[in-house]
Amino acid sequence: MERVLVVGATGNIGVSAIIAALRSKREVLALVRNQAATEKLYRHVGTKTGITTVEADATSEEGVQSVVDRVRAGKLPSFQHVYEAGKNETSWNLLREKEKERQPDIWARKKCTHGSKRFSWGFASRLDGVRKQSSLTKEMSIVGVWNPKNPLYTVDLTSYRETMKINAESAFSAYRATIPYLLEQGNPHSTWTMVTGGAGRSGVAGVTAVSQGALFSLAAVASRELDKTNVRFNEAYLDYRVEYDANCDGEANAWKMKASDYAKVYEAILADEQVKGCRVTVESPKDLEKLRYQKKLAQLNTANSWGQ
Ligand SMILES: NC(=O)c1ccc[n+]([C@@H]2O[C@H](COP(=O)([O-])OP(=O)(O)OC[C@H]3O[C@@H](n4cnc5c(N)ncnc54)[C@H](OP(=O)(O)O)[C@@H]3O)[C@@H](O)[C@H]2O)c1
Repeated sequence: MERVLVVGATGNIGVSAIIAALRSKREVLALVRNQAATEKLYRHVGTKTGITTVEADATSEEGVQSVVDRVRAGKLPSFQHVYEAGKNETSWNLLREKEKERQPDIWARKKCTHGSKRFSWGFASRLDGVRKQSSLTKEMSIVGVWNPKNPLYTVDLTSYRETMKINAESAFSAYRATIPYLLEQGNPHSTWTMVTGGAGRSGVAGVTAVSQGALFSLAAVASRELDKTNVRFNEAYLDYRVEYDANCDGEANAWKMKASDYAKVYEAILADEQVKGCRVTVESPKDLEKLRYQKKLAQLNTANSWGQ
């Protein structure tokens, strides 16, 4: 049976990818940070069956490599697909929950719409208060770039590097660790899928947006260099809010997309061999009905100005 290695497995997107893999009759090797995260994963996926977990730090250079080394050594089961589900929202969620505890009225009242999504600008404007809580200072320095009152030119280099490391570098490390293994295995149906987000295009969310720009380019490079190989690379571009199903209950959450619904997209990517070197776009629930994709590189097979 085929298996998907899911990196960032315990988040909203990771859980969605696991649901998709299981529904498409594949097993999962889920990279998790710790035991608590594993329990969270099982709870949100709704089963343990078909899931092997392995602890590693996906944001370190050696994290995913150590998993691949153990697979090569036969200590972990082999995989034919990779889903890089991204990281970075945990600190946002942490702060949001903290802020909801502190200011429930403000959180409930101050909502506005922004494109197809809703943000609580009330939350953003209260972040200064959260910053004062020393245990959250580090997270604040990352998430603070979401605050419209905290422009990019005020972000310190340490925070910039931390966000780039978690969001962009870790995807590169996962790519570098797993692609040689998939090429060696030579399975003709291998895939590599990476989630990216709308912030990188809209120019909101400071360093997060900058890091997504790096991922867009990583996807372009990967589409080109894997084109003639056995690995079908795709970018899952998501410009809509996806959360664990349990977070989508009730009218107030009706604007969110359930992880189990977004799973249809990865199921379709796995099933359709035509989807190769593509950006698969989801901007609204309508995009779940029919896979919306286009080639990352329109002129992949014609010579470019670099002769490649
Ligand atoms: N959800 C969306 O609607 C959406 C939309 C567009 C783009 N995206 C992108 O998709 C990616 C994942 O989003 P998400 O909503 O799934 O995020 P999430 O629910 O917050 O999950 C983040 C994942 O990354 C892990 N993680 C966070 N910080 C880490 C760190 N410092 N070191 C190691 N692991 C860390 C978390 O592990 P733990 O469980 O152990 O904390 C979790 O597995 C992000 O890059 C986000 O920008 C998401």
